[in-house]
Amino acid sequence: MSFSFREADLADAAQLAAIEQLVFTTPWTEEAFQSEFQTNQYAHYLLLEQDGEIVGYAGIWRVLDEGHITNIAVKPDYQGQHLGEALLRELLHEAVEEGVLRVTLEVRVSNKKAQNLYRKLNFQNGALRRRYYPDNAEDALVMWVDLS
Ligand SMILES: CC(C)(COP(=O)(O)OP(=O)(O)OC[C@H]1O[C@@H](n2cnc3c(N)ncnc32)[C@H](O)[C@@H]1OP(=O)(O)O)[C@@H](O)C(=O)NCCC(=O)NCCS
Repeated sequence: MSFSFREADLADAAQLAAIEQLVFTTPWTEEAFQSEFQTNQYAHYLLLEQDGEIVGYAGIWRVLDEGHITNIAVKPDYQGQHLGEALLRELLHEAVEEGVLRVTLEVRVSNKKAQNLYRKLNFQNGALRRRYYPDNAEDALVMWVDLS
């Protein structure tokens, strides 16, 4: 098996939306990804592929020295093999190369799996955003990491 990274582009929008359907309760649509690629100059989406199949991705908005992770996902059949960790490490590595010093994200308070991943990569707990997720009014935990 050979895994490789590449930056996503407009042609990947449908596949990314299909993975969102598999792993998120409020998935981003194909149009949402198209809009990111076409109109958001700050957005970067990193793909992890195995033999040409997208098995995971992670997105970040990079604005000067600040990064905001928008989403990270690994296809269910591929989870638990340290691919999410590999994606996040690469995303952060590339962000540092582009001058990013601090990265933040929001995660559902119930999503311990993702929180463990972020903690493993030195993210700290920040504030709680009350009722942040509209589908079930769940709180978001803000997490951040200093990369300087
Ligand atoms: C969160 C997600 C990206 C993690 O990717 P993954 O490839 O499954 O995770 P990895 O195998 O890279 O695991 C890395 C670390 O995450 C944590 N983790 C992974 N699976 C876990 C589990 N089942 N229970 C608890 N912690 C877990 C651990 O800290 C793990 O490190 P360790 O194995 O050394 O203990 C993936 O599970 C996913 O796509 N989930 C659905 C989408 C999602 O919730 N995204 C995050 C939104 S904020």
